[in-house]
Amino acid sequence: MAQIPVVSNAAAAARYAWRGGRLLTGFVRERPIHCIVQVSNRCNLTCGFCSFWERPAHPRDEMTVEDFEIISAKLAEGGAMVVSIEGGEPLLRPDAVAIVRAFARYHHPILFTNGWRVTESLARELWDAGLTEIGVSIDYATPERHDAHRGAKGTFATAVRALRILRDAAPHGSRQVTIMTVIMRDNVEELESLLRLSQEHGVSHQCTLLSTHGDGRGESGYTMPAPGLGAKLLELKARYPQLITFSGYLEALDRFLEGNVRTPCWAGERFLNVDHLGEVSPCIEKLHLRAGNLRREPWSVIAERLRSFEEVRGCTDCYTSCRGFVEEMSGMPHLRSWREFFGGFASVATPR
Ligand SMILES: C[S@@+](CC[C@H](N)C(=O)[O-])C[C@H]1O[C@@H](n2cnc3c(N)ncnc32)[C@H](O)[C@@H]1O
Ligand code: SF4
Ligand code: SF4
Repeated sequence: MAQIPVVSNAAAAARYAWRGGRLLTGFVRERPIHCIVQVSNRCNLTCGFCSFWERPAHPRDEMTVEDFEIISAKLAEGGAMVVSIEGGEPLLRPDAVAIVRAFARYHHPILFTNGWRVTESLARELWDAGLTEIGVSIDYATPERHDAHRGAKGTFATAVRALRILRDAAPHGSRQVTIMTVIMRDNVEELESLLRLSQEHGVSHQCTLLSTHGDGRGESGYTMPAPGLGAKLLELKARYPQLITFSGYLEALDRFLEGNVRTPCWAGERFLNVDHLGEVSPCIEKLHLRAGNLRREPWSVIAERLRSFEEVRGCTDCYTSCRGFVEEMSGMPHLRSWREFFGGFASVATPR
């Protein structure tokens, strides 16, 4: 009897190594390495900087678990990717666990949530289904400000509660859970308090710059922080090492905020977006650029169309962390980013 867990741990470790090896191959062979999937546009909240909740599809029109299994297998033809399960609010779907399992078969599924629907049993099931990492979105350390921004009272308390539940259930340690913060002019002064929150809870922390253009982004009046933010974050990263966002991305933020982007965007080539109906586009900001429907069409056709959008070449509309992550793992190897990848992103989910 005592041998069963050993065997299943060994099997999990072998599967993790296989998927990990394929992802590393993707890094060096310049394959797609990151895919965002909206599993639903529905949301229980109404955040000002997001517009997915404004156009929900009826659940019967959304993709089914079988569709996600098909999509997962087709994406695997491109390689093993970090698949970011998002929405809308992904945990509004009663079959969220099965969706995670469908992606875990070939990829590294991570999930972002506002935390509202997290329970102890759901947390255990999500981890058991093969979730690599989960991010709970918290943008302000002051509860009243977070609640006002997310459009409902109690969202801060619920997010912190979700953080604790997910952390306590995490199979490979508390760093599998991360606070995800969107940086805006409005919350720059709260960043250190937010980092204290992740430190107190023993979880990781990631941040992304606000995106103000594009199809899924609200016309909210939220504004970009001033240049100098990247330097401030680097200084904070030195004091709060649980901030696993790449140093190279943080440095590039100031160049972007000064209007001096030096690097091409890899959208459509090394990262992509799949919406709640299976429509594929180069990134979450450009849902109008349709490369086809992955439920019905082969990966090879869609991958070729994805690479053909002129609008993406030289685009500087955003500098989100998805763009930054891929940039740091593309082109000539940046040794510091690889070190940070193994010390941060990759180490959190390694079976021990
Ligand atoms: C669209 S949400 C979906 C998942 C979930 N509902 C949540 O809020 O975490 C995914 C991530 O995008 C972030 N986000 C929303 N609007 C954004 C914007 N305009 N710019 C950058 N990130 C944004 C959210 O805060 C969240 O961390
Ligand atoms: S950011 Fe997340 S929680 Fe907020 S409205 Fe958008 S999908 Fe919902
Ligand atoms: S910079 Fe890249 S990721 Fe951002 S909107 Fe443009 S194409 Fe999309």
